[in-house]
Amino acid sequence: MRRLIPPVPVLALASFGGRARPALPSLLDGNAVQLVSSGRIAIGMALRALGIGPGDTVLVPAYHSLSMIPPVHWCGASVIFYRIHSDTTADLDDITRLLGPRVKAVIVTHFFGFPQDLTGLRALCDTHRIGLVEDCAHCFFGAHDGVAVGSSGDYAIGSSMKFFPIFEGGCLVSRRHKLPGHLHGAGAGFEAKAALGALESAFSYGRLTPLRLMLALPLQLKGTLWTRMKQRSARIAGGGTAPVLAPASSDSSVEFDPRWVDKRSSWFSRAVLRLAGGARIVARRRRNYLALESALAGAPGWRALFATLPDGACPWVFPLLAEYPEALFARLQAAGVPMVRFGASLWPGVDAATCANSAALGRQLFGLPCHQELNDAESAWLADTVRIALEQTARAPT
Ligand SMILES: Cc1ncc(COP(=O)(O)O)c(C=O)c1O
Repeated sequence: MRRLIPPVPVLALASFGGRARPALPSLLDGNAVQLVSSGRIAIGMALRALGIGPGDTVLVPAYHSLSMIPPVHWCGASVIFYRIHSDTTADLDDITRLLGPRVKAVIVTHFFGFPQDLTGLRALCDTHRIGLVEDCAHCFFGAHDGVAVGSSGDYAIGSSMKFFPIFEGGCLVSRRHKLPGHLHGAGAGFEAKAALGALESAFSYGRLTPLRLMLALPLQLKGTLWTRMKQRSARIAGGGTAPVLAPASSDSSVEFDPRWVDKRSSWFSRAVLRLAGGARIVARRRRNYLALESALAGAPGWRALFATLPDGACPWVFPLLAEYPEALFARLQAAGVPMVRFGASLWPGVDAATCANSAALGRQLFGLPCHQELNDAESAWLADTVRIALEQTARAPT
């Protein structure tokens, strides 16, 4: 049976359960926090706060999301890619080799929600007086050896929409500096779009059904109004750029639109961040991760990227390395399994010669959902479907 399960957290009544303090530190624990519309906008703002500009170079992991690069270019700086080890940790020897007078900042990523030890990199940046941007897009909660995520970088960024049931959201935080500047609202159209986007996504996966019935008529009206507004703004723009109601980052695009710099995240997203239980998010993600790991144990043709789930980790996804990735991909896709193939597309020019580990991970890695809003039936379906796909792939790997 082909089923649709939510690839990302969707809003449910249970989302607001258990408001105890999370067992792990959160990016929002520091007092310098700006809630913006995406992680990439926060990267641009972090680099700007570090004074990065034309002629400067920023070191970025060769294993990356394509959305991490345009914010560097927006500052006028260029990118040099550094190698990572096979466990995704930054290769400090390679970073040291790449340092030069133009290098003004390093971006380091805690991949998949597994916090890295940044002691060495922090010391290197201090010695060379360069900025460190801690990319916590996959790691909203966590600590490594008691050091909270987001506390090693001069600035840290998060992608709240990967961890909370919201339509848009990212954050810029710092435990070391004040955050310069003020945020502005992005308008009533954006506020409405952010709220309705989150609700519609919940409805489409069978959540909040009574509310869906109550809102059926207003949503239909909104649909009509929306189409008219889009047509009108396209006419006004005369074929040029129409005003945007929501950032492209909410549509799995990798685009960086500077119009969202200094724009506040919506009221709806901020309310969900405040009300959703961090403790529940951490506990359920860890539980779903471990349940999937044990359900797949013994199935052929895979291994987990990380041998264990450390106490300080709150996973974004379950990163699985496949022996026959293409055959497995075709089967999982046909079965309707949502997955992230992180790093499958790297920035032009980045290949195995730049970093063999990044190229291999991009080819072999499948990020399977383990988010807090998967219910028991969905988790069981996911585990069964992936297990069957692995067994079939092992029998017919091409
Ligand atoms: C490692 C990493 N950094 C930054 C980003 C940018 O986050 P956002 O999509 O919220 O702009 C992403 C997005 O997937 C990412 O994977």
